[in-house]
Amino acid sequence: MTDDPFRTIFEPFRIHSVEPMRLTTRADRVSALTAAGYNLFEVRADDVLIDLLTDSGTGAMSAEQWAGMQRGSEAYAGAPSFYRFREAITGLFPFRHVLPAHQGRAAEHILFTAVGAPGLVIPNNTHFDTTRANIEVTGAQAVDLPIPEGLQPSHRHPFKGNMDVAALERLLAARADAVPLVMLTVTNNSGGGQPVSMANIRAVREVCDRFGKPLFLDACRFAENAWFIRTREPGYGDVPVADIVREMASLTDGMTMSAKKDPFGNMGGWLALNDDGLAERCRNLEILTEGFPTYGGLAGRDLEAIAQGLRECVQEDYLSYRIRSVAYLGEALEAAGVPVVVPFGGHAVFIDARAMLAHLDPLQYPGQAVACALYEEGGVRACEIGTVMFGMHPDGTETPAAMDLVRLAIPRRTYTQSHIDYVIEVVTRVAGRAAALPGMRIVSQPRQLRHFTARFAPLG
Ligand code: F0G
Repeated sequence: MTDDPFRTIFEPFRIHSVEPMRLTTRADRVSALTAAGYNLFEVRADDVLIDLLTDSGTGAMSAEQWAGMQRGSEAYAGAPSFYRFREAITGLFPFRHVLPAHQGRAAEHILFTAVGAPGLVIPNNTHFDTTRANIEVTGAQAVDLPIPEGLQPSHRHPFKGNMDVAALERLLAARADAVPLVMLTVTNNSGGGQPVSMANIRAVREVCDRFGKPLFLDACRFAENAWFIRTREPGYGDVPVADIVREMASLTDGMTMSAKKDPFGNMGGWLALNDDGLAERCRNLEILTEGFPTYGGLAGRDLEAIAQGLRECVQEDYLSYRIRSVAYLGEALEAAGVPVVVPFGGHAVFIDARAMLAHLDPLQYPGQAVACALYEEGGVRACEIGTVMFGMHPDGTETPAAMDLVRLAIPRRTYTQSHIDYVIEVVTRVAGRAAALPGMRIVSQPRQLRHFTARFAPLG
């Protein structure tokens, strides 16, 4: 006999140590925002109440992870912590070579330094900003090939992160020689935290095989992706999450990874792959910038924390809580009439700022305007994922991004349901005065990755 499920979202942990927050007034926040040039990356974390800027490196570690840190071996070469790290990774992703890196972009930098060059093209469902930048810096072109549904915020599709397989096939048919590898980002962060189905991974693999191209995962949120496969894709309802992950890995040739996402690392990442020759080249690059290949930019204690985090992030109680608690925020905002990307992503709820501030042109940065308003209203820090992040091109021209989103990224195991209830109130209030929010202009900006350091001013 099975019990009826409870409606309450059960957080499968008790709080073990706490981090106090400092309450701020609107006047405090206005002055912090002005001093920061309306760039939330420039605001001090102490001036933020609920920090939804990112889910990266911001999760709470478990007692077992802290215990693992005590076991960390700091030997320069061949530390036992490295072998435990590698074993935890290959238990899920059985690639022949595992190269630790201090975070995901370091793994990307090594991989694309090895395979990128002017004239080459690297397709992905949607490249994350650092992936795109690490490709472009080699002179290669980063191409996004999401399915059309993935670019329509209000269109419901269970796997909006899928790659447009026909578009990939056209690209390879036209320019196969220019493509060193194909990537798939799971979940598709910049496209709304949307999952990629196993069927899509398999179809992409099939096209890659036909053209003799390796397929790499950008696997930051692989466990959340696997949970969506389990709950949405026919045939996977009873398959353990770890088995789904191994099946995803079996369809690919390698991965770049930020351990700051699903594996609960505060820092860390890796590059893993099967190709011996490429691994050799990457290892030599790793030694130049990250360190000896058994620590690669990480302390032994970090390797241990990640190894333990990998075991925890595929647990079903955790993933069920994780995905339901993000949906709780999304459902409340949707019910309040806030335009949000549906279905809700695995790690974040994305506000459709272009729809919310329909009176603005995309080049007046509606996402930046909404993100600043959320901070001013209630000290909630979110992240623009739109024209500020993606509108500037390597040749210096600017065009609107495909979407103007504001991401409310939920750090793992960090905030409670009452914190999220507060966020719902703040977003709803801002939505209530959306028509009066001014656009933004850029006062100064760097040439690359401008969203981190550009300065803005409100229009009018
Ligand atoms: N790929 C994806 C899909 C990411 O989301 C990120 C980071 C990276 C690669 C790079 O990893 O930060 O360890 O160097 N995303 C964070 C975010 C920063 O806020 O979404 P990293």
